[in-house]
Amino acid sequence: MDSIAILDFGAQYSQLIARRVREAHVYCELFPWDADPAKVLALKPKAFILSGGPNSVYEPGAPTLPAYVINSGLPVLAICYGMQLLAHNLGGHVAGSNKREYGRAEIQSANEGSLISPGSRSSFQVWMSHGDKVDRLPPGFTATATSVNCPIAAMEDPARKLFALQFHPEVNHTEYGREIIGNFIAQAGVKAEWIPGSMAEEAMAKIRAQVGKDKVLAAVSGGVDSTVAAALVHRAVGDQLTCFYIDTGLMRQNESDQVISTFRENLHATLHPVNAVEDFIEALAGVTEPEHKRKIIGEKFIRIFEREAQRLGHDAKFLVQGTIYPDVVESSGVGREKAAKIKTHHNVGGLPDDLHFSLVEPLRYLFKDEVRAVGSEIGLPGEMVWRQPFPGPGLAIRCLGEVTWERLEKLRAADIIFTNELRAAGMLKNEIAKHPVGTAQAFAVLLPVKSVGVMGDGRTYEETIVLRAVTTDDFMTADWARLPYDLLARVSSRIVNEVKGVNRVTYDVSSKPPATIEWE
Ligand code: XMP
Repeated sequence: MDSIAILDFGAQYSQLIARRVREAHVYCELFPWDADPAKVLALKPKAFILSGGPNSVYEPGAPTLPAYVINSGLPVLAICYGMQLLAHNLGGHVAGSNKREYGRAEIQSANEGSLISPGSRSSFQVWMSHGDKVDRLPPGFTATATSVNCPIAAMEDPARKLFALQFHPEVNHTEYGREIIGNFIAQAGVKAEWIPGSMAEEAMAKIRAQVGKDKVLAAVSGGVDSTVAAALVHRAVGDQLTCFYIDTGLMRQNESDQVISTFRENLHATLHPVNAVEDFIEALAGVTEPEHKRKIIGEKFIRIFEREAQRLGHDAKFLVQGTIYPDVVESSGVGREKAAKIKTHHNVGGLPDDLHFSLVEPLRYLFKDEVRAVGSEIGLPGEMVWRQPFPGPGLAIRCLGEVTWERLEKLRAADIIFTNELRAAGMLKNEIAKHPVGTAQAFAVLLPVKSVGVMGDGRTYEETIVLRAVTTDDFMTADWARLPYDLLARVSSRIVNEVKGVNRVTYDVSSKPPATIEWE
């Protein structure tokens, strides 16, 4: 089966490139730019894609183009920083600049037959994010697109099958992005024959080979990833698997009970619920810094898990983790020290060094919707497979400031009002999906900001609820949902009237980027 190797130069969007390639039915893997060449070539790629990255080719210590890429004679698609590297290495010139062009741009292309072959269109919108740009073509290349700020917005040397784009074809904001990636696959002669349908069977075979007759433990949270991972392991090795559900007290209204009953009804695996609410609330007392909260929760979680496993006298060798591909890439790629600090997703990297288990990670190479497809394939119901994402550290990160039981209850009460009203209006995308502004993720956030209000004859001085609702396909970029005013009015009035200690409700109208979906 043909495959493509993607070299990651530290771009925010590298994993989206992998995703688009897989959507085009080509198997691909993402490697750090400085990965051992033998490891990359072991994939026997039929083409390379070079990602973007935050550096300038002139910076000391900036990532360089590994020699084997050009020496292989294989087709290359170079994006953004990748394009600059290609130009820099092949005799073109890159103009340094400390001014960034960031956002939408219109490009013109008149080169029929090029990768960005215009067809009936001669100009279209793309997403740019760069400082430097190529200002002299390397020998053999022609410019295939221009924009006002970027006279060489794309270039190619069709004889050597080297293609380069200054813009990002992988993000949704680029019109025809998928088509451009598809054109590269076709022009590179890569056969698109990867079918992700047999993922469940493949994963179960791997689990059986890894685990043998040993015992396996899993901590399930109700989230899609941990549920599908546990279900796969259960299908693969049956009662060798024991699951725990640790109630951290950081879940939404009635969520713990629902998670436990849905799991029992659908999985038939052994599940031990553990009430650890007090442990978590105590450990979080006085803590306001979000990274600190995440660390405490991650650490506490694994210690309680170990304690419970020991209490049951379990001699398991293996631990199931619902790690998915974006988690892996987010916490291991190049130049990601900074990106990883943006949010320590506690699914990966949060495990202590002295953990005595080997990890079973059946979803490690899958994207979210592939995980959902596997879940459906093995017969999990829609309510499990289509659940909205919920952060590992739970409401602790939506409860800004100190996490106390009283504040959590306030947040839960507001959140359930918002969810129920959205559900009644048919706007929870994954439940009904009929309304044009179905929200992909919607929740309440509690701010430790008090302001003055009036209620009846009295003056109030209470905290603030933020409503957050977004539309998105991939959760990497998102827009705020254009919820109807009358729905917002109803939610706001219900929250202020029904939730004690809240006198003001606001609606978040920020897109991602530059904001994130979660507040924390
Ligand atoms: P942001 O806030 O970065 O979130 O735009 C993107 C998506 O990731 C979810 N999220 C998390 N998921 N553990 C998770 O499993 C976490 O720590 C975490 N933090 C954010 C978030 O809900 C959104 O869907």
